[in-house]
Amino acid sequence: MKERPRICDYGDSSYRQDFWEGRGRDYEDAVERRVLAKLLPPAGERLLEIGAGFGRITNEYRMFRQIVLLDYSLEQLQYARGRFGDEGYLYVAADAYQMPFRKGTFDAATMIRVIHHFEDLPTVLAQIEGVLSDKANFILEYANKRNLKAMLRHLLGLNAWNPYTLSPVEFVELNFNFHPEYIERQVRDCGFELRTTIPVSWLRLGLIKRALPTGLLVRLDAALQGTGWRLSPSVFLDLRLKKGSGTEVVAASSDPLTFLKCPLTGSQLRREGDALVTRSGLRWGIKQGVFDFRQPLN
Ligand SMILES: C[S@@+](CC[C@H](N)C(=O)[O-])C[C@H]1O[C@@H](n2cnc3c(N)ncnc32)[C@H](O)[C@@H]1O
Repeated sequence: MKERPRICDYGDSSYRQDFWEGRGRDYEDAVERRVLAKLLPPAGERLLEIGAGFGRITNEYRMFRQIVLLDYSLEQLQYARGRFGDEGYLYVAADAYQMPFRKGTFDAATMIRVIHHFEDLPTVLAQIEGVLSDKANFILEYANKRNLKAMLRHLLGLNAWNPYTLSPVEFVELNFNFHPEYIERQVRDCGFELRTTIPVSWLRLGLIKRALPTGLLVRLDAALQGTGWRLSPSVFLDLRLKKGSGTEVVAASSDPLTFLKCPLTGSQLRREGDALVTRSGLRWGIKQGVFDFRQPLN
């Protein structure tokens, strides 16, 4: 039997405080938001944010009627819930390798700063394809192993890995960088059409970031994004499911029971107090407003 892929669980880590808040990453945050604003449609039904974490960029998705935040970390989602509340938002603690959604639930999905934690990309992409409706948008950000800094380090013999080889490099446990052609092949094999490529975060160097104001960095980055060259450390892809490769239409109701399913059996769920229950009696908890599909209660 195939072994289950390892999961990089952020749990109750201090990712928010240690990586973002006051940590000199306003430029990265701003360029990511700018690219999202460019790629997102003006309106939509239901968006899935995969690996939403504490909801750093969730407020960019306001044009959707319903936003579903999925993450393995219950604690990060509980923090996000404290920020956004329940009106128009749903919080789902689950493994992206085994999603608890019915076919065609979403007309859009995003996955930003998450793919680098996946050792089994085809399985995750197949899951995403399965929960999207026909012609859905999927915005995917990945960490690019063939970036200018890595190429220079390779030239100087300072890199332990080769930025030009297609295979992903695991530079720290469960942290992978990907070659652009590897990613593009994977998404095409999974039924996605690549519409736009936007390379970002060109100026992600402490020295440059300290020397220039954020607004200027963002404008310079925007100019470099226009080249389309996949040589920056981070790349955004605007993907669309090809006609006929997804299924069904998005259910109009925002009632989660119309689109959630048991991730183990695929069966329907009904609510019983603070649990969702399958016909065979498998129970999933709801913890402080977060639907928890990581382990059944029984
Ligand atoms: C670097 S954080 C990114 C959070 C957010 N997207 C952002 O840009 O701020 C990566 C997130 O992916 C989540 N994650 C990693 N592996 C996962 C998996 N197998 N299923 C669901 N979430 C996962 C982690 O729990 C973490 O919150």
